[in-house]
Amino acid sequence: MPAAEVGKQATRRRTFAVISHPDAGKSTLTEALALHAKVISEAGAVHGKSGRRGVTSDWMTMERERGISVTSAVLQFSYRGRVLNLLDTPGHADFSEDTYRVLAAVDCAVMLLDAAKGLESQTLKLFDVCRHRRLPVVTFINKWDHPGRDALGLLDEIERRLGIQPTPVTWPVGLAGDMQGLIDRRRPANMMNFTRAPGGAQPAERHDLSIDDNSIEEFSGLRAAIEELELLDGIGAFHDPARFLTGKSTPVFFGSAISNIGVNLLLDALVDLAPAPAPRSAHDGTLRDIEAPFSGLVFKVQANMNRAHRDRIAFVRVCSGVFERGMILTRAATGRSFTTKYAHAIFGKDRVTVERAYPGDIVGIVNAGSLVSGDTLYHEEPVEFPPMPIFAPEHFAVIRSKDLTRSKQFHRGMEQLEAEGVIQVMLSDQRGRQAPVLAAVGPMQFDVVLHRLQHEYGAPASLEQLDYRIVRRTDKAGRDLLRSSRETEVLTRNRDGELLAIFPNEWRLDRITRDLPDLTLEPLVAATV
Ligand code: G4P
Repeated sequence: MPAAEVGKQATRRRTFAVISHPDAGKSTLTEALALHAKVISEAGAVHGKSGRRGVTSDWMTMERERGISVTSAVLQFSYRGRVLNLLDTPGHADFSEDTYRVLAAVDCAVMLLDAAKGLESQTLKLFDVCRHRRLPVVTFINKWDHPGRDALGLLDEIERRLGIQPTPVTWPVGLAGDMQGLIDRRRPANMMNFTRAPGGAQPAERHDLSIDDNSIEEFSGLRAAIEELELLDGIGAFHDPARFLTGKSTPVFFGSAISNIGVNLLLDALVDLAPAPAPRSAHDGTLRDIEAPFSGLVFKVQANMNRAHRDRIAFVRVCSGVFERGMILTRAATGRSFTTKYAHAIFGKDRVTVERAYPGDIVGIVNAGSLVSGDTLYHEEPVEFPPMPIFAPEHFAVIRSKDLTRSKQFHRGMEQLEAEGVIQVMLSDQRGRQAPVLAAVGPMQFDVVLHRLQHEYGAPASLEQLDYRIVRRTDKAGRDLLRSSRETEVLTRNRDGELLAIFPNEWRLDRITRDLPDLTLEPLVAATV
């Protein structure tokens, strides 16, 4: 395929994720976005809620039972001649490694806030990851149909706590809970008024009115909105593409996902303001051009998404070139090649064979050997993207198979869950192979392991939580030094053979460091989310 065609297709792509605190309305917004757009393929991105139309993910019952999104999936749709790829992020802090990987695969994030709550703990943590990855962030202030905080106060909070300049593109007429319309600051002589469709099942109907004495008379919130806009003009809070793309400012939109108000303006912003896929930095500091031969990043691996197929899918973000089904790809970590001839490209539980995918697109490759999250794949011209960080675990537990006759299934399940990045698996010098130690960033990861071992592998297991909270990297000499200490354990991480020492608390760690001054201990990457 000519390079120009790849470039042209890449320019049409927008690949993004929504970051939010649980309950801010991420699922509702996703459904509302899909309503405005022509859904090409849906991947169970949204956990179904009764009474609402939903793209239901039913491959993980636990996800449904808990009402949390454990798995990340993909929704692809077209809008105004562009192809939008929306990647779902897990809503819970315990799955921070998954979230990090997803954010490594997008070019932009939508930060969704609940108008009554503003910035919440999980939003702050997720925003930090975006900042770290230098992702441009678009802000959507949701639930304006419901009583909430004052618009200027919310902007002030964003500026103060995130250190990023909010530049509203739309502005609400009427306080939260009394939503009378929106003003698009690019067309300040008009206001948009909406007739909400019952249940938000259809996009709200929009009427444009010119702002004049009659409308000021008719809409009680309009005068205040005009004054606030003058104030914003006065302080120069205008959208500036360069500042947005470098993470210094965030365009802000107001609306109500449930009433489907303001959502099309957000979609327009993704098309008009958000960046298309750009050349990606490789591990050695070089840039992989969009038009270069195919390269991709595995950001998620998931087994058993479809019970009927019992297979394993690696979700790959296309970074350069074209993915064509049947092409031979090389896994950078091992230099081994594999064919995608029999691998379907799939989205979620519905198998849609995708013959071709372009930069920004997500391809699900089925049963492609031993791919793990963070892998780089390439065609012809080698490249390796920087490794994904492995976060410092803070929770440790010994896992044991409850049924010895199922030990083969137990070990297979453990291997799979480790490859997916669901949990880190370690061997303790003191405990041996039959009692591997699981290490997690958040304790809910343990629940996922037990649930999936039982339901997907028929291998019931039990956990014994260990009283350690702190982990440090050590070396062979450190392992020897710590051998006689009863207050620590040395673990070998399966995935990379890294030697890790674990301690119950800072106090013990300090004491051991004082007693053993020659001991090498280094901190690991802290879990930012
Ligand atoms: P999440 O994925 O971020 O966790 O949030 P979700 O979309 O599930 O929404 C959380 C709750 O907020 C839901 O209410 C949803 O209806 C409500 N919500 C979402 N967007 C809006 C909005 O624009 N305005 C108002 N007023 N509410 C909104 P729920 O009672 O938990 O569920 P349900 O019974 O309504 O389905």
